[in-house]
Amino acid sequence: MVTAYDYSSAKYVDEAGVDTILVGDSVNMVVLGEDSTYSLTMDQTIHHCKAVKAGSNRAFVVGDMPFMSYQADVVEAVKNAGRLLKEGKVDAVKLEGGKRMVPQVQAIVNAGIPVLGHIGLTPQTLSQLGGYRIQGKTSADAITLYDDALALQEAGCFGVVLESVPETVATEISNRLEIPTIGIGAGAGCDGQVLVYHDLLGIFDDFTPRFVRRYANLKPIITDALQAYHADVEARAFPAEEHIYQMKDEEKSKFLSEINQHDIF
Ligand code: KIV
Repeated sequence: MVTAYDYSSAKYVDEAGVDTILVGDSVNMVVLGEDSTYSLTMDQTIHHCKAVKAGSNRAFVVGDMPFMSYQADVVEAVKNAGRLLKEGKVDAVKLEGGKRMVPQVQAIVNAGIPVLGHIGLTPQTLSQLGGYRIQGKTSADAITLYDDALALQEAGCFGVVLESVPETVATEISNRLEIPTIGIGAGAGCDGQVLVYHDLLGIFDDFTPRFVRRYANLKPIITDALQAYHADVEARAFPAEEHIYQMKDEEKSKFLSEINQHDIF
């Protein structure tokens, strides 16, 4: 699984053969420039989901439910999950939280909408967790995580994302669940892995979590290209002959003479 937020990035991920695209609420940080995921709205999410869906022919597309689109009320959760499918055209939704989200998961699944769970470090409860901290570091916390994973499985989730948990905890949970786990900062024992597109490609460098492997370093390549374009335009080296549309000679002389006449009157 890789995140994508627009038509072109979705096409790249889809054509690379990745199974699943997540329209993550990380869009709020890596695309919209906010310092957390909190302020993202349903309308913004739908806007990005539609673009991603347009760029993906093959991959399964999951839309992330934004903060406060499902936490307060079960009916609202079902309606908003429905909007992500109807208007955003995604195949499934993801929401954060363990046991306490069971009523929401059950209701959304009962409405016929597949749900991916997300536990461990859940950015939508960052204030409660006290920041970006590894979760499940003590045995007691790890058992709570396992109970959360079991509760999500029981409630009908088709899979669960495990974010920033020790490898042993993620591996043991993965081995015991019947549904697949997708890890991010959770080690190699998960059934699948997810990374944020901009992290994986080295586009976003405001901060880089330890669990990220950069498979490319595109930022300097993009910067070099933009600087070269800027320099070419200033030096009038772009556009060149091959970029220019020409008129037939006859129309050109007619036009030049007519425009000069035009100026006189
Ligand atoms: O929003 C996101 O990108 C995510 C992944 C990191 C799992 O939730």
